[in-house]
Amino acid sequence: MPAVEPVNVAIVYYSATGSVHALAKAAAEGAEKAGATVRLRKVRELAPPEAINANPAWAQHIQDSADTAEAVLDDLGWADALLLGTPTRFGNPASQLRAFLETTGPLWAQGKLADKVCSAFTASNTPHGGQESTILALSNTFYHWGGIIVPPGYTDPIQFKSGNPYGTSHVAGRGAPSDETLAAARHQARRVVDTAAALKAGRATTA
Ligand SMILES: Cc1cc2nc3c(=O)[nH]c(=O)nc-3n(C[C@H](O)[C@H](O)[C@H](O)COP(=O)(O)O)c2cc1C
Repeated sequence: MPAVEPVNVAIVYYSATGSVHALAKAAAEGAEKAGATVRLRKVRELAPPEAINANPAWAQHIQDSADTAEAVLDDLGWADALLLGTPTRFGNPASQLRAFLETTGPLWAQGKLADKVCSAFTASNTPHGGQESTILALSNTFYHWGGIIVPPGYTDPIQFKSGNPYGTSHVAGRGAPSDETLAAARHQARRVVDTAAALKAGRATTA
């Protein structure tokens, strides 16, 4: 049987004030612990400086995340599994992440986004502020790509505490992500890696 390479995971996210960044880092830890090779990538900031500078937390996060590489199309092509993270913006993904996704047409047209394991996570200010609708909105794109959507469901005891089967979700209005929410992000990433690893191994036997 041919040796199976580790799963490649791209964690691509947007974060203005750091909450989603914290979830993305936890997801990266979970994926690495599960044996994956991980690329943690922020999408390009598109807001004008006057908007950013009017919010000290936003300006601070831009400085704090200066060392995180920006996502490019090759990160998606390279990945066996994709974890997308975004703040909830009026019940939808942030335009910065959408703008990046809308550059993926050339990859999509070549079928290079098909058959990847896909999952998503979010943060919103309030508990009923649209977390599920944001994650489901990202799923629309996964469907178009031909992705294999793997939600966390209630597949681990942490899910009964953190409480979102659609994808890890943080209520930013309550402060920084709790240990439980970070554990849920690690679990979600582990589940994504395990699924992608099984698919990769199965494909290697039929190649
Ligand atoms: C334009 C805009 C729209 C927002 N819409 C919502 C919303 O629909 N529901 C909600 O609970 N929070 C909303 N928020 C708050 C963000 O979701 C929150 O600031 C974000 O999750 C924090 O994540 P970050 O620290 O990674 O940027 C909105 C914020 C902005 C700037």
